[in-house]
Amino acid sequence: MAYLPVENRYEKLGYRRCGQSGLLLPPLSLGLWHNFGSVDVYENARAMIHTAFDAGITHFDLANNYGPEPGSAEETFGKLLATDLRGYRDELVISTKAGYRMWPGPYGEWGSRKYLLASLDASLKRMGLEYVDIFYSHRLDPDTPLEETMGALDQAIRQGKAIYAGVSNYPPKETKHAYTILEQMGHRLLIHQPKYSMLVRTPEEGLLDTLEELGVGCIPFSPLAQGLLTDKYLDRIPDDSRAAKPTGFLQRDQITPGLQKKLRSLNEVAKARGQSLAQMAVAWLLREPRVTTVLIGASSVRQIEDNLGALKDTFFTSEELTKIDKILAG
Ligand SMILES: NC(=O)c1ccc[n+]([C@@H]2O[C@H](COP(=O)([O-])OP(=O)(O)OC[C@H]3O[C@@H](n4cnc5c(N)ncnc54)[C@H](OP(=O)(O)O)[C@@H]3O)[C@@H](O)[C@H]2O)c1
Repeated sequence: MAYLPVENRYEKLGYRRCGQSGLLLPPLSLGLWHNFGSVDVYENARAMIHTAFDAGITHFDLANNYGPEPGSAEETFGKLLATDLRGYRDELVISTKAGYRMWPGPYGEWGSRKYLLASLDASLKRMGLEYVDIFYSHRLDPDTPLEETMGALDQAIRQGKAIYAGVSNYPPKETKHAYTILEQMGHRLLIHQPKYSMLVRTPEEGLLDTLEELGVGCIPFSPLAQGLLTDKYLDRIPDDSRAAKPTGFLQRDQITPGLQKKLRSLNEVAKARGQSLAQMAVAWLLREPRVTTVLIGASSVRQIEDNLGALKDTFFTSEELTKIDKILAG
């Protein structure tokens, strides 16, 4: 599969600086949590990566456990790196993570140096890579000294297996602590990956302020709340949706009549802006200057194209913002 000529690939997106680092990221990044595993259709995964890269999306986000089967999203991406994406490594920012359960026993999850470094080696092998661009601690381990977890990220960088360090799902205080430890080791904490969307506002309770103060980038995950912030669940649960699939993380019982009512009202605001609800949800995050890039998921090429349409209008009037907050609070 041939990609667009390089000049056509990069003219469409304005790249955004990741905190105070030297790294620029596209406004949209593509995550491979769902729909890129061994249970999924390879040609669909391939077409989605192709569409994203052709549109200027240079950043692809993975983790050791993405699949299902765990690890198989990295294998799918590795297959593409060896074929379609061969020769493009220096145009790509590839991340992976370790933190959630990956293999049995006491060394297959959380934040020990033992687990993180073994997991990174396995991720590199699955993707056929010598290094990833960003290696994340996927979650805070309350029982492991943060010095050890950050020490593992430091070691990965020193070994040339990762270029930058990131944390995900860390509260503000621990983010600051992680930043300080890494700084003492001679590294900058590049990026934080929190769950953030119109429906999940936790980062507004201190995390965004902390990231701004430290000059750390922010890549919100599940910006569409796994698909809730689209027009698909307004009055039903479609058979081919994440909520209907046995392997999906979104559960049917999360889609309550009260939520659907809010989604229908949000959909009206989106329509008035000339956007789909998904586009408005992405634009709403991008309007926040402390957000570097929005980490979308997708199950089809059409969805990626729809979400890219959000970039045409990321400005909100204060009336629109108030209206959205009022709907969500209702
Ligand atoms: N760090 C962490 O702990 C963590 C946790 C979760 C995710 N992540 C990262 O964040 C990425 C994104 O998460 P996510 O997949 O939950 O993101 P999301 O963007 O909130 O949801 C993606 C899902 O929404 C639906 N969708 C997307 N665009 C649509 C559109 N335009 N119209 C209608 N439906 C649309 C699709 O679901 P259907 O299957 O229903 O079509 C798609 O799979 C992951 O791939 C992963 O890289 C990180």
